[in-house]
Amino acid sequence: MSKGPQTGNRPEQPVALVTGASGGLGQALALELDALGCRVAVHYNSSKDAARAVQDKLTNDSVLVSGDVGDYAAVTALYQEIGERLGPVDVLVNNGAIRKDALMAMQNPDDWAQVIRTNLIGSFHTARVAVPHMLRQRWGRVINVVSPSGLIATAGQTAYSASKAGLIGFTRTLAAECGRRGVTVNALSPGFMITGMTKDLPDRVVEGMEDKAPIPRFVTVEEVARSASLFLDQDCMTGQVISIASGVCIT
Ligand SMILES: NC(=O)c1ccc[n+]([C@@H]2O[C@H](COP(=O)([O-])OP(=O)(O)OC[C@H]3O[C@@H](n4cnc5c(N)ncnc54)[C@H](OP(=O)(O)O)[C@@H]3O)[C@@H](O)[C@H]2O)c1
Repeated sequence: MSKGPQTGNRPEQPVALVTGASGGLGQALALELDALGCRVAVHYNSSKDAARAVQDKLTNDSVLVSGDVGDYAAVTALYQEIGERLGPVDVLVNNGAIRKDALMAMQNPDDWAQVIRTNLIGSFHTARVAVPHMLRQRWGRVINVVSPSGLIATAGQTAYSASKAGLIGFTRTLAAECGRRGVTVNALSPGFMITGMTKDLPDRVVEGMEDKAPIPRFVTVEEVARSASLFLDQDCMTGQVISIASGVCIT
């Protein structure tokens, strides 16, 4: 008899929290999860109007929540609200993140710490609240959005790179802790997308970037978000980094 995760424990309409659903990729992920039958908690930090516009497009029940993921009290408060409106979170997408680039020898220590606090510690905070319910239910999904920058060097990105490399380690270890109870933990690594995070990059940085990838173009947020069904459906995929990045890490 199988001792593995039981697909039958998957809720009919899982509750999915997408952090940073006010941003470029988060919006696309919220729409995709809604299309896949989830009830989505649309999270924002400061961009309320953008998040509300996303919520307006959803077809299933949903809720709008806000808070800084680096603040554990704020995270527990937003889970409380989701719990009251939709029920406990079955699918957690740690998408919200920031980037504060500077050459390390000149970087402001507060900026460096803020990137780690938001991208890495924030993902721990949201998982810390969500995972106990998933384990009890014996079904759950944690999807951590990482980056090729967690694996390959880009000058000026020690903070961002360390946060995403740390998140990959977090993903793998949490996956090892949760697999026996039907909870999978994976990382999604998008390639360069034109979003709020990248729109201000100087032309000299962006120019030529497309041509460096084996598939010489940027990816779209919709292409990356389409991977959501893979994470939801695969009971035996855990601890993996799924890269939708035009092949940037292979050369
Ligand atoms: N764009 C790329 O080329 C690229 C490539 C690889 C990986 N990624 C990753 O993809 C994910 C989405 O980024 P994006 O490109 O869509 O960027 P984006 O448009 O700038 O969105 C970032 C999101 O993070 C939220 N956020 C910022 N600070 C937060 C905090 N303290 N607590 C909670 N949420 C916070 C923002 O919320 P508010 O706007 O409401 O403040 C926003 O919704 C990130 O994890 C990023 O690292 C992006």
